[in-house]
Amino acid sequence: MSTNLTTIEPLGAPLTGTMRVPGDKSISHRSVLFGAMAEGTSHLTGVLDSADVRSSLGAVAAMGAQVNLEKQPDGSLAGTITGWGESGPRQPEEPLDCGNSGTTTRLLMGLLAPWDIQATLQGDESLSRRPMRRITGPLSQMGARFTPDGQETLPLTVHGTCELQPLRYEMPVASAQLKTAVLLAGIFAQGTTWVQEPAPSRDHTELMLPAFGVAVERPAACQAQVTGPQRLHAADVDVPGDPSSAAFPACAAVLAPGSSIRIENVSLNAARIGFAQVLKAMDAQISWKQTGAAGEEPIGTISVAHTADLKATTVEPQAIAGMVDEIPVLSLVAAHASGVTRFKGAGELRVKETDRFQAVIDGLAVLGVRAWAEGDDLCIEGQPDLQPQPGLTFDSLDDHRLAMTWSLVGLTGTEPVQVARFDAIRISYPTFLDDIRSLA
Ligand code: S3P
Repeated sequence: MSTNLTTIEPLGAPLTGTMRVPGDKSISHRSVLFGAMAEGTSHLTGVLDSADVRSSLGAVAAMGAQVNLEKQPDGSLAGTITGWGESGPRQPEEPLDCGNSGTTTRLLMGLLAPWDIQATLQGDESLSRRPMRRITGPLSQMGARFTPDGQETLPLTVHGTCELQPLRYEMPVASAQLKTAVLLAGIFAQGTTWVQEPAPSRDHTELMLPAFGVAVERPAACQAQVTGPQRLHAADVDVPGDPSSAAFPACAAVLAPGSSIRIENVSLNAARIGFAQVLKAMDAQISWKQTGAAGEEPIGTISVAHTADLKATTVEPQAIAGMVDEIPVLSLVAAHASGVTRFKGAGELRVKETDRFQAVIDGLAVLGVRAWAEGDDLCIEGQPDLQPQPGLTFDSLDDHRLAMTWSLVGLTGTEPVQVARFDAIRISYPTFLDDIRSLA
């Protein structure tokens, strides 16, 4: 772990003031992919400029979408995407490189399934370990083919077909990527494609597709359906701030004495702000207020302040999808709370950019905090008087959310820490350190 260590110095002052976080990653991916699928020119603003979103941009450009996005003074990308519309994606000449991005990969599988082309998807080492049969399974039932046959991991070649069959699908896991892949394919199938999830996952796809002219029905909670064939038409999308990125300054403010901050223009989508509900359940001083909307996404301000007496909480399995990317940083907050915090049914953490379940247990052990697995429950025994020892070193394992989580130990404490492979933050929040330092 000696290579590529970044020293994270304590902020040395409380976090105060008002900030914004970069554009939402999930919404940015969807704006890019739907813009590429649409007939006409879509106008996008507030798009996150990060390595993951660039994977989606590279893939759609390789298949014939005209991407004309430019860096804005606030660091976001804005401009136009002219989609391939009815003529469909162009057969890519080379494998599509999805980098580290599971969202790019899995959404592309659904996007490609209805076209008579073949495209190979590949990714970095981490992405090449992640499970794909959850996507290729239902898309194969619809008539697409994936080679090598039955393979779980990338690289995989998608063999699409313009004769896709609709599907009724009860999803085995609450996953917005899986739900979206099936719905995107269903737009082009003859008939109604219906999905049901075991728990609510983020619904950005259901909220954004109607702006692109695609009717999406939601017959009951945790259900969505599209009746094909339909077409996408260009739309304007304004991407709000990312609540998953906002979770890091929010948790930093909870932990750093004297802090009080406001984070504006964040998506307050109910399927995304589970982390704020958990912080509230831990007695943290946090509140949020809707101030408007970006398309169908509610947006608003999160206000959060230092809290000395945090208490442990239990999160039920139904709520996990609504905070799945925030569990590492919530675990760090739980390490400071009195009692045992339990994230029930958090097994999905094992198949994220890295095995975040084990990584949280190992990282908290570096801090001297006991955390353990009970089946799929992640348990953390907090220490209200926790004072990190000098000289601690954490490993991000090349995972952006772990890099930011462990950096908070140094930023909000009194001792510097070292984080190996900290540059993983480029995946979702490249300006994280500057943003958080600007509050101190
Ligand atoms: C995402 C869905 C979630 C999340 C990921 C982004 C999306 O993944 O963890 O960061 O944009 O649809 P799963 O669908 O695997 O739960």
